[in-house]
Amino acid sequence: MSDDKKDSSGIHVVLLGPPGSGKGTQSPMLVKEHNICHLSSGDILRSAATAQTPLGQEVNKIINEGKLVPDDLIVELIKENLKRPECKNGFVLDGFPRTVDQAKQLDSMLSQNNKKLDRALHFQINDDLLFERSAGRLLHPASGRIYHRTFSPPRQSMLDDITGEPLVRRTDDKEDVMKKRIRSYHEQTSPVLKYYKDRNILSTIDASLSKESVWEQIKEILPRKAL
Ligand code: AP5
Ligand code: MG
Repeated sequence: MSDDKKDSSGIHVVLLGPPGSGKGTQSPMLVKEHNICHLSSGDILRSAATAQTPLGQEVNKIINEGKLVPDDLIVELIKENLKRPECKNGFVLDGFPRTVDQAKQLDSMLSQNNKKLDRALHFQINDDLLFERSAGRLLHPASGRIYHRTFSPPRQSMLDDITGEPLVRRTDDKEDVMKKRIRSYHEQTSPVLKYYKDRNILSTIDASLSKESVWEQIKEILPRKAL
C-alpha cells in the first residue's frame, strides 16, 4: 500500500532508553497530549509475573535476573494489548521494542493494519545517573504511576496521591540487577537505535534534565496535531 493510503490518525511512537531514563514518567503526558494509549512492556510483564503459573514464575525470574524475556512472548503480549479500544488513535510504546527482531515484528504488525511508526524517541542519559533514579523509585503497581523519594515524592510518604494505596519498590531496582539491566540495554537494545536512524524516524532527547525540560523537548518533536 502506498504511503498516502496509510492511516494517518493519531501518533504512533516508541520510547527507547536505558532503565531509569524516564520513559514511564513521560508516557502519561504523551497520552494526555495526543489522546493515545500507553503500553509499558515492563508493566504488562510485571502483571503477567504475578500469576501463579509456570509462565508467571518464569517471567518473574527473568525480570529479577535483569535479562530480557523471549522476543516471541513479548511480541504476542503487545499484539494483544494493541487491540484495546484506547489504542485506536495511536500509542506510546514504552520499553518495546528492545531488540532488532522485536522492531521488525512491530513493523510487520503495523503494516498489516495499514499503520506505520511515526517516531522513535531516544532518551539519552549517562549510566551514572540511572542508579540514583532507580534507587529512589516508588511504584503504584495497579496504575503504573511512578514517584521518586527525592525528585518526585508522593504527597504522603509511601502512598499513591490518587488512591491512597501503598507504593512499592521494584524488586529489579536493586543495584546488582540494575547493572545487568543497563548491560543488556547496551548490548541488545542499542542496535535498535540504528534500526530507526536508518529509517529516518529517530529523535534523541537529553533525558538527564528535569522532568519538565524533558517534556518540553518531546513537545517540540511531537507537537499536538491541529484538530
Ligand atoms: P521495564 O519496566 O520496561 O524497565 P526499563 O525499560 O528497564 O525501564 P524502567 O521502567 O526501569 O525506567 P523508565 O525509563 O521507565 O524510568 P522511570 O520513568 O520509571 O522492564 C522491566 C523488565 O521487563 C526488563 O528488565 C525485562 O526483563 C522485561 N522487559 C520489558 N520489556 C521487554 C521487552 N520489550 N523485551 C524483553 N523483555 C522486556 O523513571 C525512573 C525514576 O526516575 C523514577 O523514580 C522517576 O520518578 C525518576 N525520574 C524520571 N524522570 C526524571 C527526571 N527527568 N529527573 C529526575 N528524576 C526522574
Ligand atoms: Mg518504565
